[in-house]
Parts: sequence; C-alpha cells; structure tokens
Amino acid sequence: MTWLSLLLFIDDDMLSRSPWIRPEVMEKMNMKFPIILASISAAFMLAACGGGQSEEARQEAIKSFMADVYDPAADGIWTNSGWVLTMEGEESLFPTNDAEWQEVADHADNLVNLTRELQDDKYAAGDQEWKAIADGVIVFAEEAKQAALNKDEQELFDVGGDIYRACVACHQRYSVPNSTMAN
Ligand code: HEC
Repeated sequence: MTWLSLLLFIDDDMLSRSPWIRPEVMEKMNMKFPIILASISAAFMLAACGGGQSEEARQEAIKSFMADVYDPAADGIWTNSGWVLTMEGEESLFPTNDAEWQEVADHADNLVNLTRELQDDKYAAGDQEWKAIADGVIVFAEEAKQAALNKDEQELFDVGGDIYRACVACHQRYSVPNSTMAN
C-alpha cells in the first residue's frame, strides 16, 4: 500500500477519531515542526559540505598545516638569510658551503610544493582569491630557489622579504590575528 492509497482510505469519520489529528495534538505538532525541520536541514548542510568536511574542520586543517608544515618550510629560507648584529659585530646567516646552499634551495623547492598543496580545495575550498595569493608565494619561492642555486646573498634576502609579504597578504585578507610566523 502506497502513501497515496493510505491517504485516500482516510475519510472524515476516521479523521475525527484519529487521536493524532485532534486539534490539541496538531498544535503540539506545529510547535515541534520547526525543530524537526531545523535538524533535518542541519543534517543536509553537513552532508552538502562534501566529504563530510565542515568549515570548522577546514579551519583546523589550515591551522595545523600552517604551524606544523608550512611555517617551518619558510623558516628554512629565512633563518639562512640575512645578517644579525652580535657583540662581535655583524654576523652573516647565509650558507657558507655548497651543501648549505643546496639545503636552502631544497627548502625553497619544498615551499613551492607545499604552496601547491595549500591551493588544494581541502584548504582553499574553491576560493580563487586564495589560490591567486598562493600563486604569489609560488613565484617568490621559485625565485628564492634560483637565488640559492646562484649563491646570490642579496637576491635571496630580497626574495625572502617578498615571500614574507605574500604570507602577510593572505593573513590580512583572511584576517588572521598577528601570527607567530616571524618567530
Ligand atoms: C592562501 C592563504 C595563506 C597564505 C599564502 C599563508 N597563510 Fe598562514 N595562515 C592562513 C590562515 C587562513 C591562517 C589561520 C588559521 C587558523 O588559525 O584558523 C594562517 C595561520 C598561520 C600561522 C598561525 C598558525 C597557528 O598556530 O595558529 C602561521 C605561523 C602561518 N600562517 C604561517 C605562514 C607563512 C610562514 C606563510 C608564508 C610562507 C603563510 N602562512 C602564508 C592562510 C595563509
């Protein structure tokens, strides 16, 4: 028996006798109806987020990617580039041999690959602006790799600044509170 035939079998007499159709019951049903609707639509929204990933889960994924993976990769460039003042005078942070220069080039290469990962919809959620800002990091990280391969100190330092500004551009766009990335 289908729902339609069920409906057709109900006559007025049955309606007045059915306890669940009585006005008091109907009133209670009406009160509950919005709650039922709300929980149904919440379930649909969760399902619609694709792969069961909620916005909250995406934010968490971004956060741990940034802190555990992405920031250390950028540090691989920044901590090997520049000059610091010490009691003894100015100290260079740049690599001093071929192996160290190669390491910095590898860090830059790693940053390129990680930034491509950051453009994945797991993090980007289809946001074209997000992907465009990340494209900027890729360009500068590729330049940093080339500078390291050329053992060009000034160029590596300048491009390191460009990378930093690209990070900040995204953080400002998505209003990330003053991050710890320079540490
Ligand atoms: C395309 C966007 C985007 C780019 C590019 C980007 N970030 Fe982020 N970053 C974010 C977002 C969004 C958060 C906030 C995550 C959260 O806390 O929910 C964040 C947070 C961080 C955090 C804080 C993580 C924590 O523990 O709360 C660090 C550190 C960080 N980013 C480092 C960097 C560095 C270094 C770069 C550049 C090499 C960079 N980010 C580039 C989007 C970006």
